[in-house]
Amino acid sequence: MAKPCFFASFLCLLSLLSSSSADDPYRFFTWNVTFGDIWPLGVRQQGILINGQFPGPQIEAVTNDNLIFNVHNSLPEPFLISWNGLLQRKNSWQDGVFGTNCPIPPGGNFTYIMQVKDQIGSYFYFPSLAFHKAAGGFGGIRILSRPLIPVPFDPPAGDFTLLVGDWYKANHTDLKRTLDNGQMLPFPDALLINGRGSNGNTFTLDQGKTYRFRISNVGLTTCINIRFQGHTMKLVEVEGSHTLQNTYSALDVCLGQSYSVLVTTDQPPRDYYIVTSTRFTNPVLTTTSILHYSNSAGKPIDPLPGGPTIEIDWSLNQARSIRWNLTASGPRPNPQGSYHYGLINTSRTIRLANSAAIINGNQRYAVNSVSFTPADTPLKLADYYKIDGVFSLGSIPDNPTFGGMYLQTSVLEANFRDYVEIVFENYEDVVQAWHIDGYAFWVVGMDGGQWSAASRKGYNLRDAVSRCTVQVYPKSWSAVYMALDNVGMWNIRSENWARQYLGQQFYMRVYSPANSWRDEYPIPINALLCGRASGRKTRPLSM
Ligand SMILES: *[C@@H]1O[C@H](CO)[C@@H](O)[C@H](O)[C@H]1NC(C)=O
Ligand SMILES: *[C@@H]1O[C@H](CO)[C@@H](O)[C@H](O)[C@H]1NC(C)=O
Ligand SMILES: *[C@@H]1O[C@H](CO)[C@@H](O)[C@H](O)[C@H]1NC(C)=O
Ligand SMILES: *[C@@H]1O[C@H](CO)[C@@H](O)[C@H](O)[C@H]1NC(C)=O
Ligand SMILES: *[C@@H]1O[C@H](CO)[C@@H](O)[C@H](O)[C@H]1NC(C)=O
Repeated sequence: MAKPCFFASFLCLLSLLSSSSADDPYRFFTWNVTFGDIWPLGVRQQGILINGQFPGPQIEAVTNDNLIFNVHNSLPEPFLISWNGLLQRKNSWQDGVFGTNCPIPPGGNFTYIMQVKDQIGSYFYFPSLAFHKAAGGFGGIRILSRPLIPVPFDPPAGDFTLLVGDWYKANHTDLKRTLDNGQMLPFPDALLINGRGSNGNTFTLDQGKTYRFRISNVGLTTCINIRFQGHTMKLVEVEGSHTLQNTYSALDVCLGQSYSVLVTTDQPPRDYYIVTSTRFTNPVLTTTSILHYSNSAGKPIDPLPGGPTIEIDWSLNQARSIRWNLTASGPRPNPQGSYHYGLINTSRTIRLANSAAIINGNQRYAVNSVSFTPADTPLKLADYYKIDGVFSLGSIPDNPTFGGMYLQTSVLEANFRDYVEIVFENYEDVVQAWHIDGYAFWVVGMDGGQWSAASRKGYNLRDAVSRCTVQVYPKSWSAVYMALDNVGMWNIRSENWARQYLGQQFYMRVYSPANSWRDEYPIPINALLCGRASGRKTRPLSM
């Protein structure tokens, strides 16, 4: 029955993982994570490089591919990579956040084994521990449709990734120390596009063609706006949903969000600016790249196209205009089938309010008054090995309490196959961006003021987009519907990196009493063990 199997062999790992479907292609990646010098703003900084690159290499995959990443941590500190937007179906073991995985120790390696099952779209990966995201280690992910699945636009002449984000001259250890000392981060120093400052990137395009740009906000603290001088953007995809193809001259991209637009080179042949600027900030940071026509007659002409800066209604209206194209295919030819998100009754409403407070003289952030503190053991492992005292279920309420803030390793209890409504309520004056690992959800509504049951009358139950990161405007709410179809331990977090670091996050444990491999894959045999899970056994080598 059982073949002899050597631990370090990939094929052995794969054959033991009943999860990976042998029929679907495998893509193997070997990554070496190091510190190295980068000069994004002209001053030398210590960046996190992947195979010598900043940003890290782009991942290109096709729906249902099996992705095998052997990540070698050559940093002198623990490290993990997480995958923003990858659904990791039945497989929170690979999510790469501290609640699910032990850190890869300095000099160690870990092989992530995952499948991009039934997924398409644009996403990114990032380093999840400490404040590593401020040093790089992020990169783009694109999941293409399978060859026979129609895509609702012609194949573009080129496909570019724009990883945009705010950046500090201070290094990640200094930024982390600021937060650990209970202080807020200063205002960022600049925006970077693909790891470079103004005009550090040139995109060469042929005249008279259409190109795809995948824009992700990989930054730490600010929403951004993007514009292509003299050109419009046709929105085609948002985090795996094909959208109605609206045309925009300026597009807001909040923290952690990804959008695909088509840009047609229908202008006189010269160079143009691609402009990004911070949103809802004062001052406004601006960074440009060059859009270069291959038959260009000259440099771009000033001034830069202006964009929105602090206007909130503009952004809210734009967010509401982003709709799902009901007739376009998704990962499968017919995205809807007989199932329609708007016709299912929700069985539970979870209202989540963010807040800020000072605890023991230190700045903290919370959800429903609970400020998350990491445990000494990944929650997923504590759950699997039934280690008491790491976290307790139901340690975060379903509704805002508006009471005093307290520290807790908060885990929300949830049942497999429930259909839930989640309302993100923002009573603060700062725009929020919320992300849920392991899931995509329908953004059914957002508006200013306080949410109430009557707000449901305005929900879009017809053609809302399904995505994994949603913004919540100041003193506003955003509501989503979500089918709890993915068993596991899943991080729900602010994509504002200082806020998540200081407690604006928690985990949701989606539980199936069946305890079956049909609902959740077994613990990987190569799982790293740490904390109170040290020295346990993963599972027998022959199964
Ligand atoms: C990673 O890169 C460093 C620096 O180039 C090198 O010393 C080390 O051997 C590499 N490790 C692996 C596993 O490739
Ligand atoms: C990767 O880590 C495993 C232990 O998890 C170890 O046995 C193996 O030698 C490591 N491989 C390399 C190339 O460092
Ligand atoms: C929606 O997708 C269909 C099918 O691919 C396409 O023909 C149509 O143009 C799209 N509609 C809009 C408004 O984008
Ligand atoms: C970060 O910068 C400080 C100076 O502000 C320096 O002392 C420290 O060595 C740097 N750390 C890293 C990891 O680069
Ligand atoms: C949803 O609830 C309504 C009112 O309680 C009920 O009439 C309807 O049949 C339910 N729909 C489904 C699909 O269960």
